[in-house]
Amino acid sequence: MDVIGGLVVIAIEGPAVLEVYPDTHSLAIAAISLFFSCAREAIERCGRFTVALSGGATPKTMFELLAGQEYQSQLDWRKVEFCWGDERCVPPDHPESNYRLAWDSWLHHLPLTPVQIHRIPGELPPAEAARVYEAELHRLFPGDTLPHFDLIFLGLGTDGHVASLFPGTPALQVQDRWVCENYLAATASWRVTLTLPVLNAATNVVMLVSGKEKASILKRVLAAQGDVTLPASMLHPSSGSLYWLVEQSAMSI
Ligand code: 6PG
Repeated sequence: MDVIGGLVVIAIEGPAVLEVYPDTHSLAIAAISLFFSCAREAIERCGRFTVALSGGATPKTMFELLAGQEYQSQLDWRKVEFCWGDERCVPPDHPESNYRLAWDSWLHHLPLTPVQIHRIPGELPPAEAARVYEAELHRLFPGDTLPHFDLIFLGLGTDGHVASLFPGTPALQVQDRWVCENYLAATASWRVTLTLPVLNAATNVVMLVSGKEKASILKRVLAAQGDVTLPASMLHPSSGSLYWLVEQSAMSI
């Protein structure tokens, strides 16, 4: 474990790095810095930047900061394609919508055209929503056997889930689709999610973890390797990088 400028950097299994930040603000600033470095590299390399945003509460601080004036000129936003890692099966204006979280706190401030927003149509029946989103991704990544997102943001559930790949659910086993629907018995609700092969095909995967309630599961996930009961431990980008950006309160070590 190294401490660089007050930042604890812990090398963990495989091409992954874990960085610990003292609070949610510095965690968000680190995530923003990684967002822009991935974006500039992708735009330089291929003229566009494809990013999948996560849902839940953790990314909200990052989104709100990114909406600030100081970031508006930091990128040619016309070259960014916004997607989502997963979505709740609710309309886009529903309080639970991951799209609404990103749109309200960040994206509506940006000079984007509607075609840059690849929303998961949560208002449709789950299986149809998955099919529609997968077709959209095939248009975004034509001819690819898997979509190689330049960056995928993910959060960590207290049960070890990422996106809407929950332990013991069928979606976690899906290898032959890019997107699938998934029923979450605990909340009697449907989700639509990128599948594990798509997460592991990304160039950069960034896990954002904060809150003391995540300390226990984070420790288990980091100690596990490919444990199907801990979906986050199955993240191993085949030719990409995995970053764990963790707020101090989520580190129980
Ligand atoms: C969702 C997310 C989900 C989330 C984790 C962490 O739709 O809720 O995609 O995977 O990232 O559950 O959520 P918090 O950030 O709220 O802890």
